[in-house]
Amino acid sequence: MGAWQEGRRDDPAPCREQDRGLFEITGRDGRARLGRLHTSHGVLETPALLPVINPNIRTIEPREMWDRYGIGALITNSYIIWKHEGLKQKATEDGVHALLDFPGMIMTDSGTFQSYIYGDVEVGVEEIVEFQRSIGVDVATMLDVFSRPDMTFTQVEHCVNETLERAAVSVAAAQHTMLNGPIQGGLFKELRTKSAKGMAQHKFAIHPIGGIVPVMEQHRYKDYAKIMLATLPYLPAERPVHMFGCGHPMLFPMSIALGADLFDSAAYALFARDGRLLTPWGTEKIESMVDWPMLMPCVASVSPAQVKAMEKEQRTALLARYNLEMTLNELNRCKQAIRDGTLWRLVERRSHQHPALREAFLWLSTRPQQAMMKLQMLDDLILNDRDAGRERGPEAGAYENGWNWLVDAQESPRKGGEPWGGEDTFVRPQIVAARRQLISRWQPKNSTARGCEDVLVMHGLPGPWRERLSDIMVRLTHHAPALEVLILTPVGLVPYSLEDLNPFAHIDGPDWLWRRRPNLPWVRRELDRLGLGNRKIVTVDMQGEGIQARCMTALHQAGVFDGDDDQTASESPLDKEGREAAKLAVYRRLVSDKLAVLLNVDISAATGLLEGATFVVNRQGRVKNAITPQGKHIASPRLGDGGLSLTDEGSIALHAMRTIAPPTGCSSEHESDTNGAGPAWVVVDEDAEPFVRQGRNVFHGFVLAADPWIRPSQTCLIVNQKGELLGHGLANGTVDEFAGFKKGIAVKTRGGIPQ
Ligand code: GUN
Repeated sequence: MGAWQEGRRDDPAPCREQDRGLFEITGRDGRARLGRLHTSHGVLETPALLPVINPNIRTIEPREMWDRYGIGALITNSYIIWKHEGLKQKATEDGVHALLDFPGMIMTDSGTFQSYIYGDVEVGVEEIVEFQRSIGVDVATMLDVFSRPDMTFTQVEHCVNETLERAAVSVAAAQHTMLNGPIQGGLFKELRTKSAKGMAQHKFAIHPIGGIVPVMEQHRYKDYAKIMLATLPYLPAERPVHMFGCGHPMLFPMSIALGADLFDSAAYALFARDGRLLTPWGTEKIESMVDWPMLMPCVASVSPAQVKAMEKEQRTALLARYNLEMTLNELNRCKQAIRDGTLWRLVERRSHQHPALREAFLWLSTRPQQAMMKLQMLDDLILNDRDAGRERGPEAGAYENGWNWLVDAQESPRKGGEPWGGEDTFVRPQIVAARRQLISRWQPKNSTARGCEDVLVMHGLPGPWRERLSDIMVRLTHHAPALEVLILTPVGLVPYSLEDLNPFAHIDGPDWLWRRRPNLPWVRRELDRLGLGNRKIVTVDMQGEGIQARCMTALHQAGVFDGDDDQTASESPLDKEGREAAKLAVYRRLVSDKLAVLLNVDISAATGLLEGATFVVNRQGRVKNAITPQGKHIASPRLGDGGLSLTDEGSIALHAMRTIAPPTGCSSEHESDTNGAGPAWVVVDEDAEPFVRQGRNVFHGFVLAADPWIRPSQTCLIVNQKGELLGHGLANGTVDEFAGFKKGIAVKTRGGIPQ
């Protein structure tokens, strides 16, 4: 080896002094995040892998990690350095970066893992933190107490309490050095949560999840997922989460989707010593290998047979590189999936690689007993609507907070097709989030008019449905103004007014998926969820010719138009005036339903706002702009995702409609009472005011308060402390993220409101 020496990489630039220790999010997909961690030895892009360097046995030189592999951070063990006189002296005199010859971020562990392996360590709690500080590490680790999965509740409780007791002195000993505050708690949900809440109170920079090495070694991935859901929602969102000892690429997608930012790997070297290769689908032995499972740069010109013939040290070094390359490869794949908004789909795909991973995935996304059943057109597999806690079984119910935490962070609606992937499709968190929003915010027409006793469910074809249904909608709006028309999609019923909304309209699957006949008990339950219970259901297949006539016949047969006069009336052509009025009503419903579902506007307020509105419609019959009788363009439906873009005028109108007090902090309490309260407000510091009014983005450091229902990618209004409107934009986080982040974009401003 040695070829990397040709291309040396420059040393990193230190972060700005005021940014040291801060973490910011630059991209996201649900709880998965792309971030930047600011340190004196560079800004680390996350998710990141920190290779473990044993200062005594360097399988790959740290310098090569930096130069050839672009590794920005590594982890080594301060206890090993402390115990070894030669290493200790060099580290104390020249610093840990010189000791390892690595210019990037260096994290050190404290000796806890040694105490887990060997029973005890000789070093003191403050002593080991002070030592780490003295050798100039970027991130030190306190001496936590390792909790094993086989321990009893009392034993684990002792580990959690003892770690908590050591927290304050450790933080004090670290002074300005960033410090890891590991979370313990074994397999006990309450103790993991207690540890997270307790450690969150101290000024740690990063929270590693500890005690998981034996969990991973035993392939207990369901327990691993449970540990994450019991822990991460209770940690400050602005601190990176590190999965201690997790370096197997197979676990990366799920871990990242559940909020992990950092990993460390000794596995690349340890497995290499045993002739084993890490792959995203598991571990493979080189012993019987003829071809590489994936061709990596380091083995481009050698075969497995040639590598097997090498002497041990050379073989280990090459396989360690192979493992490192494979690990980085999977990490990159995850990062790109975050950018593309497809990470959960990767989690889904990877879950098929190992039975234990599949078990973890199914536990996360469905009730275990449900997952064993054959899919019946969604049925209760979409369990995570209002009834979620009740339906997920006694044990899963306990983790409902964690699941909600995941669902609440999903961007919805999204752009692009939603590829069908079997029944896993229906429990993708972003689909669950979209359904929850629809179910909790959409309301049927509030009318006693004729027809309100019925619903028409159209089925049988994928979208777009507009061309097929727009004429019928006009007729029905005229003849049966209170009749609700819904479309059956593979992920649930969607009102016609939201017919272009992602993901409902964008499920990309085989024809039979759309052609399936409605399962009436399921349709009934779905209608119940939408507030349409007890109505008579009329179903019409959209396939084939004469759909308009078939609709009318079905409705006649169901008695929607009772009496011969009505029948004649409903069959005769509409006059121009009636037609125009009905068309306007369809457009109004389209925009008012989107205001309600996507911007949380009270439905009667939305209807009032659109009273007398006119609409600009494009050649395909899609509404482009909604304009009030006063001539104000307030909103534009988005063609890509079926969303609704608010204009400056629209933001002024919605701001004026708010009836509740502005938020005073960033608390997630009382969210359930706020349906219909309008888009979330973000209150900013006066220093930010002129910039926001000019349309500039809002940065986290300037946010004073936000409403609890704020969600990533959703419209919010930006106000000052007096509650005056400054602008509107798309939020970049949930309220727990607004509460903690000090750096990064909080709101992507779409329009500023000049004074
Ligand atoms: N390395 C792997 N697991 C752990 C842990 O629980 N604590 C510490 N400090 N290091 C670890």
